[in-house]
Amino acid sequence: MALSVGVFGLGYVGSVSAACFASMGHKVTGVDVSRAKVEMMDSGRTPIIEARMTALVAEAHRAGLLHATTDATAAVLNSEVSFVCVGTPSLKNGKLDLSHLERVAREIGAAIRQTKSPHVFVLRSTVLPGTTETVVLPILEKESGKKCGRDFTVCYNPEFMREGSAVADFLNPPYTILGASDTSHLAPLRELYKNTPGALYETTIPVAEMVKYFSNCYHALKVGFANEMGTMCKHLGVDAHAVTKIFTSDTKLNISAAYLFPGFAFGGSCLPKDLRAITYKAKELDLKLPLLESLMPSNAEHVDRAVEMVMNTGKKKIAQLGLSFKAGTDDLRESPQVQLIKRLIGEGLDIKVWDEDVSLGRLVGSNRQYIEEVIPHIGAVLSADLEGVLSTAEVVILGNKSASKDQLAKYLRPEHIVIDLIHLDKTLRPEGARTYEGICW
Ligand SMILES: NC(=O)c1ccc[n+]([C@@H]2O[C@H](COP(=O)([O-])OP(=O)(O)OC[C@H]3O[C@@H](n4cnc5c(N)ncnc54)[C@H](O)[C@@H]3O)[C@@H](O)[C@H]2O)c1
Repeated sequence: MALSVGVFGLGYVGSVSAACFASMGHKVTGVDVSRAKVEMMDSGRTPIIEARMTALVAEAHRAGLLHATTDATAAVLNSEVSFVCVGTPSLKNGKLDLSHLERVAREIGAAIRQTKSPHVFVLRSTVLPGTTETVVLPILEKESGKKCGRDFTVCYNPEFMREGSAVADFLNPPYTILGASDTSHLAPLRELYKNTPGALYETTIPVAEMVKYFSNCYHALKVGFANEMGTMCKHLGVDAHAVTKIFTSDTKLNISAAYLFPGFAFGGSCLPKDLRAITYKAKELDLKLPLLESLMPSNAEHVDRAVEMVMNTGKKKIAQLGLSFKAGTDDLRESPQVQLIKRLIGEGLDIKVWDEDVSLGRLVGSNRQYIEEVIPHIGAVLSADLEGVLSTAEVVILGNKSASKDQLAKYLRPEHIVIDLIHLDKTLRPEGARTYEGICW
């Protein structure tokens, strides 16, 4: 079914969206404050230089499916859906400049006052979570004098195109993300994207807004990481691209979801040691690698957050389930869970620790030596009796996944305050806002 669509902002995202929707057979009106851009699109010429756009815009114009105007009201009244793709640049201090978005929301809101059927407002510009619902939506309601959800709807649909291959990316995206407070609002968007390849996710507006930042920050991190490691390779006389080629072929641990779910700090006998070795070597080579150098402080900050969460409960009797850096091992070397216990003992709290895999009597070698050096009094707090450890505790820290679901279901009590470092299954979490806190969720 062909739809009538307005596209506000004829920059990179808007022009490509307008041309691609028109190429799919929808009737598109582009809107911009720039007369030059509007005149170009309205006469069948692309306002941006981008592969395939010249032909796509000319064809859509010839087919009578693509027009442009500076008149926002006319565009809203002639369409069912308005896609907003205006710029959200940085202010000097880094803060997001929402002035273009606020202006276009006022214009569309005023036009919605005159619409006869429920209009669909879809934001595509990149905005911080909460912006659509707490900044844009109130402007639309105020200017239209109408109620969102009843008289019009608001959705968020981030764009993942890259300049240079924007048309190809639009037509073949990694996925399509549709955010709405009620999935029934998404009906016209499902229709628009029904032939688009890739997975389609329907989610809340804040999740859809945040996926865009998660993606872009990660992409920036990848570039910074590859460049710093490449620099290291160059100065060590190693072929950086040969290393990267092998590294990226591992889709189990390297190019995968592994290590990407929010959780507790990293530790163990390898990651901290190897990071330190590389950053020390960089110093010897007079190289500045701020990204790699930031990882140990970032990790320490995460342990600080856990300490703060426990202290904020104001309770004294603390049980921690899990002492090694991950369940299934008794390796305590550089375990952030050990660091956490050490800090909490230092704060004068009454600590008890249980870990299925750790028994002081069985620890040997460098592992035993490490724990005796780091927490000589660990013997006094470590217990093999899970029920006993939990029976007197006010706060329960889930340090690793050593306790099974069955054990947690059996021994966790509603009065326990749970500090979750492992992303406990939702069904096992105690109910009530003050009795459960995840470290970074
Ligand atoms: N460029 C990309 O590759 C890309 C990719 C994904 C997401 N994004 C995001 O999409 C948004 C748009 O990016 P862009 O690169 O297309 O921006 P852009 O600066 O190229 O284009 C924005 C357009 O909006 C127009 N505009 C401003 N106020 C307007 C108004 N009131 N009414 C109508 N038009 C108005 C401007 O004149 C301009 O033509 C940004 O939030 C950006 O972060 C960009």
